[in-house]
Amino acid sequence: MSTKASTNAAARLPVIFDTDPGVDDAMALLFAHRHPAVRLVGITTVFGNADVAVTTRNTLFLAERFGIDAPVARGAALPLVRPPRGAAVEVHGHDGLGNLPEPVTACRQPDARAAHHFIIDTLRARPGEVTLVALGPLTNLALALAEEPAVARLARQVIVMGGAFGTNGHGGNASPVAEANVLSDPHAADAVFTAPWPVTIVGLDVTHEVLMDDAAFARLRDEGGAEGAFLWDCSRHYVRFYGRAAGVRGCFVHDASAVACLLEPALFGQRAGAVRVVCDGIAMGQTIQAEEGKRYSHAEPWADLPSQRVCTSVRAADVLALFVRTVCGGAGGR
Ligand code: BDR
Ligand code: CA
Repeated sequence: MSTKASTNAAARLPVIFDTDPGVDDAMALLFAHRHPAVRLVGITTVFGNADVAVTTRNTLFLAERFGIDAPVARGAALPLVRPPRGAAVEVHGHDGLGNLPEPVTACRQPDARAAHHFIIDTLRARPGEVTLVALGPLTNLALALAEEPAVARLARQVIVMGGAFGTNGHGGNASPVAEANVLSDPHAADAVFTAPWPVTIVGLDVTHEVLMDDAAFARLRDEGGAEGAFLWDCSRHYVRFYGRAAGVRGCFVHDASAVACLLEPALFGQRAGAVRVVCDGIAMGQTIQAEEGKRYSHAEPWADLPSQRVCTSVRAADVLALFVRTVCGGAGGR
């Protein structure tokens, strides 16, 4: 490697990518891998779109397919408290990757450590440097915090795809008020949002504004190499689901929007304030922010908690352009 190339590699932002692939997780993984500002230092898996054996196998498969050599550590199989919700077959297919025509297999083995131990070790080794990008239920991050609370002071920042704050008419996708990742482990999400690390939450308030149509997927297929063509294949089932469920032509870009927020936060309008998660009852999984600077007569559940950032608006066309350009290897891509 030339001196220039190795310097650039050193300057890239180290990221642990926590994921439950998942079609949109696959899109986000290729996006992060192909962007020159990111260095994936590890991938951790979690139950969510499928059980953790499947999401781990899918992650190893994707890492091989995309040429990613970062270690993959298997994570939590179950939520902290609530019973599991089960696989999202209707959304992500029986294999979790949109019912691919080929069998999903992997030769690589996962790291020997559990995901939360991998997170603790990596943050300790590089204090203040590593960003966590979390795209599934937040169980691994909550387990890391429970075992070693100091990790909250060691992470550079945490970017989460999850939650729904009801702005711009955007409610939940798993219940009228709850987003799927948060509903899958609300206790974990509450622990992560209330810990003293800087969290940016990219929820349905913005991801339901970012609609990717087949013309954009066709660009990936035609200009994004074999990996772009793979995203076309694995998105067909997902796009059909959104047509049925939401009446849209295309799919919402959930997980890749969180990667976009890491890369270009200025594309997102953000609101500051402490965030809590409802952990039981019919509103389980609802995310609620007490806006900074507002006075409430009943503020006790949010009192003295760290102020986190919630995305409330997005320049959707620019997010889509960044994603497509990066995957297709143009400006902003490798
Ligand atoms: C989130 O839930 C999962 O189905 C997606 O992968 C995404 O992370 C959207 O609510
Ligand atoms: Ca996901």
